[in-house]
Amino acid sequence: MLQKTRGVSVFPVGLVTQLGVSSPVVQNGHVVGFFDGWNGGRMFAMDMAGFAVSVELLQKKSKAMMPLKAGYEEDGFLQSLDVTPEDLEPLANNCTQILVWHTQTQRVAPIEAQADDGMADTNIVHLLRHMAENKVL
Ligand SMILES: *[C@@H]1O[C@H](CO)[C@@H](O)[C@H](O)[C@H]1NC(C)=O
Repeated sequence: MLQKTRGVSVFPVGLVTQLGVSSPVVQNGHVVGFFDGWNGGRMFAMDMAGFAVSVELLQKKSKAMMPLKAGYEEDGFLQSLDVTPEDLEPLANNCTQILVWHTQTQRVAPIEAQADDGMADTNIVHLLRHMAENKVL
């Protein structure tokens, strides 16, 4: 999918914000807005996983940069490429498919995994021993 990117392509991202999805709003093949749990006055209300930029475009934009400002990295970066929302190329079948997920790694409550008798001579025993030794669980 991403190899179709000419300048900046965009696509929906699943599992982000309380909406469960962040996506450009596409009408008649054009980006007309953004559906995201938080707008924050951004021109591009998008998740970091929701766009791709061609190397060719990036090399042409000597002022390309990403601000170190929480929540505004995507917006600042895309603005530094001199693109407008109308320039964005919707992928993922006009943004009707979720092919990208923004996941989060979190500590979970410890559980004690145990191999049952049928797993005695399988890889699972080794995996569990390795995890116990390294305090993964
Ligand atoms: C996206 O929508 C436009 C306008 O309706 C249409 O011409 C185009 O074929 C669509 N693209 C895809 C991949 O469905």
